[in-house]
Amino acid sequence: MDALELFICASPELQALLRDAARVAPTDATVVITGESGTGKSLLAHWLHDHSRRAAGPFVVIDCGALPETLLEAELFGFERGAFTGASAAKVGRLEAAQRGTLVLDEVAALSPSAQAKLLRVIEERRVMRLGGTRPTKLDVRLIAVTNLDLAGAVARQAFRADLFHRLNVVTLEAPPLRARPGDIAPLARHFLTQIAARHQLPLLTLAPETARILERYDFPGNVRELRHAMERAALTTGGKVIHPEHLPPRLTSAATLMRHPTRKPTLAELETAYVREILQQVGWRKAEAARILGISRKNLYEKLRAYGIPYRPSDPPDGNASDSGPSA
Ligand SMILES: Nc1ncnc2c1ncn2[C@@H]1O[C@H](COP(=O)(O)OP(=O)(O)OP(=O)(O)O)[C@@H](O)[C@H]1O
Ligand SMILES: [Mg+2]
Repeated sequence: MDALELFICASPELQALLRDAARVAPTDATVVITGESGTGKSLLAHWLHDHSRRAAGPFVVIDCGALPETLLEAELFGFERGAFTGASAAKVGRLEAAQRGTLVLDEVAALSPSAQAKLLRVIEERRVMRLGGTRPTKLDVRLIAVTNLDLAGAVARQAFRADLFHRLNVVTLEAPPLRARPGDIAPLARHFLTQIAARHQLPLLTLAPETARILERYDFPGNVRELRHAMERAALTTGGKVIHPEHLPPRLTSAATLMRHPTRKPTLAELETAYVREILQQVGWRKAEAARILGISRKNLYEKLRAYGIPYRPSDPPDGNASDSGPSA
């Protein structure tokens, strides 16, 4: 991830979050960032670092969920030569590597009880000791803990130490799911299209109004990451400069998806539009075949296309893979 990557925040919900983040960024307060997968927690952690007094220092991320317990402790605390079999040379841990900078503990709930106990000691004493070491090093590191689990719940279940939780949880920033802040959807989609166009040297791509409407009422279980993947797929499948609904992954546009939305129930016309589009896409826009599946006459199908503003053929000539399911989120 590049430093100072653009942080899109158009919705009042995200603006409130960023205001809170701006208040704590310049302090050395330990921050816990929570939120569903793909909501922008990692980006927010980076933003905090970039807007802190430590911005010129190192930004170090350790993914606590990705490393087995023994490796994780060696990674975090480092070790001296001979600390254990195979430790043929000393190694600086990530805590030390983050001196005068920020250390992000990603998926912090995955820390083992033993790593939790050691980390607590490091935070309390502000000193770190390498495995097998004898002299502690003074530590000047800002900690950010990231989790998509409910950490307080993990404490209640005794899966996470309460004392460590309270040490870490000085400030909590909660990244809201994308479906709870629809005002960010179109601006984020445009931001990703701009990025993609620049990266692939494509002409600037825009969203058709109907595409924006469909995106705004989709519930995005994969949050911002799912939106980014959908835009990448759309950019590569459209032959033109406009993203039309048929360039979106089918799961975003299907009638079933519309019906599943927790709060915004579709009208009959919206359902019918989505279903007609879905069937047309499935049969490669062969009208006779679509009419047969829909149980209506071809004349009736054409009337519906006119009434609902559905094009008679895909809006842009597909480049040969417009009907596959594309990269999934
Ligand atoms: N507000 C935003 N502005 C611009 N890009 C964003 C924003 N929020 C998220 N993104 C982008 O969406 C993708 C997912 O975000 P990120 O990796 O930060 O999510 P996460 O919450 O850390 O996910 P996970 O729980 O899976 O680690 C990234 O490519 C990120 O750059
Ligand atoms: Mg992340």
